[in-house]
Amino acid sequence: MPQPNLLLGVNIDHVVTLRQARYRSMLESPNAEPSALEAALTAEAAGAHSITVHLRADRRHIQDDDVQLLRQKIGTKLNLEMGNTREILDIALRVRPDFVCMVPENREEVTTEGGLDVAGQRDALRGTVKALNDNGTRVSMFIDPDLDQVRASAEIGAAMIELHTGTFANHTGAERAAEVARLCDAAELGHTLGLQINAGHGLTTRNLPDLWAVPHLAELNIGHHIVSRAVFIGLREAVREMLAVMATYRD
Ligand code: PXP
Repeated sequence: MPQPNLLLGVNIDHVVTLRQARYRSMLESPNAEPSALEAALTAEAAGAHSITVHLRADRRHIQDDDVQLLRQKIGTKLNLEMGNTREILDIALRVRPDFVCMVPENREEVTTEGGLDVAGQRDALRGTVKALNDNGTRVSMFIDPDLDQVRASAEIGAAMIELHTGTFANHTGAERAAEVARLCDAAELGHTLGLQINAGHGLTTRNLPDLWAVPHLAELNIGHHIVSRAVFIGLREAVREMLAVMATYRD
């Protein structure tokens, strides 16, 4: 099959958020559902190219056992989002996901709020990137579309950047257009520096067409909208719906 020009990573954190809402204290229950693995396999069957999970320090959704099971059972790629802590790095080195996306993490946030300050944390991140690279995991930096952050990501040895599209997604009109211009500049620079360009956060079938001005996009990571749509039309159909819109991207 020809390789599509834009790949989809489905973030299944919120499937697990639902399980944790009821079964946090009794994950051994035969009723503990919905299953992270079933979500991943369903997304794959619908055409997803990778499965993304964020193992947070507070374990609010994805659990260590989920990551382990997904690593063993999925047929596509596993993308682990993680904050730069020794504890989570040790898990990533053990589990060996195909990709890691380094994200900022703070306990109070509802979801990942801003991009990672790679430029301000070069030294701390360089070692983590090297350890993961040496272990066979490709590393991405989740950054705002800021040229200094793009340069810093290349400099510390990341293979990819994931451009934070939250500001793009949460605005319309002139503000969205201004953010698209920033995303374009960041993507151009990243491409010139040899980085793979990914994007994610707040993306929906409705706002994606506005993102298509951004060049060099290789992969999108999308969670909330797909899981929200799945409530009404099922996960398989929600993934297919997203892939159909993504097929209209031309670099
Ligand atoms: N990419 C990263 C790095 C994220 O932290 C998130 C949110 O977990 C996403 C993509 C997906 O964002 P959304 O759930 O809004 O699609």
